[in-house]
Amino acid sequence: MPQILALNGSLRAASANHRVLEYLRAASKPPLTIVPGPALDALPHFNPDLDIDPAPAAVATLRAQIANADALLICTPEYTFSIPGSLKNALDWLVSSGSLYEKPVAIVATSTSRGLKVLAALADVLAAHQARIAIQTALHPAEARTHLTGDAAPHSATGRALAAVLAALGA
Ligand SMILES: Cc1cc2nc3c(=O)[nH]c(=O)nc-3n(C[C@H](O)[C@H](O)[C@H](O)COP(=O)(O)O)c2cc1C
Repeated sequence: MPQILALNGSLRAASANHRVLEYLRAASKPPLTIVPGPALDALPHFNPDLDIDPAPAAVATLRAQIANADALLICTPEYTFSIPGSLKNALDWLVSSGSLYEKPVAIVATSTSRGLKVLAALADVLAAHQARIAIQTALHPAEARTHLTGDAAPHSATGRALAAVLAALGA
């Protein structure tokens, strides 16, 4: 049963990316399951001196969750043309463990400018991890707010874009 671990690059309570992630969770069909990962502020700031055995508890948990997952789903905003610090911090904790090596990763960037720069930045970082980008999609927060509610949602352009994400993840 394919299990997908989902990470949200936004810590905001009213996060549009959280809304997208929850839509994908609700729209995913068995045998695919999308499991939310930890809030990324649970991780300590990355410090190579702390990247030893045993790893900090929150880091060890994240690494184990990724090891158990068939793929990763990253929903994230773009911050200052790049990757939000909390998400980059999490990715840095996954270098020494090789957690993302050949791991399929789907990325949905929901951002005011549609997040094309964060997609490019993530592509570079994930290449360094030797992860495999399964699909990447960019949305505007207004689309997450208005297109992802109600019965028509799956038939909207946004819903169709997210259906393609699920398909790429094996739904
Ligand atoms: C510090 C900061 C920097 C931002 N920089 C960008 C940016 O470079 N490009 C962009 O499209 N949006 C940028 N935004 C706007 C976010 O994309 C937008 O607020 C988005 O909805 C945040 O995602 P969330 O709703 O999941 O928190 C920035 C927002 C913040 C708070």
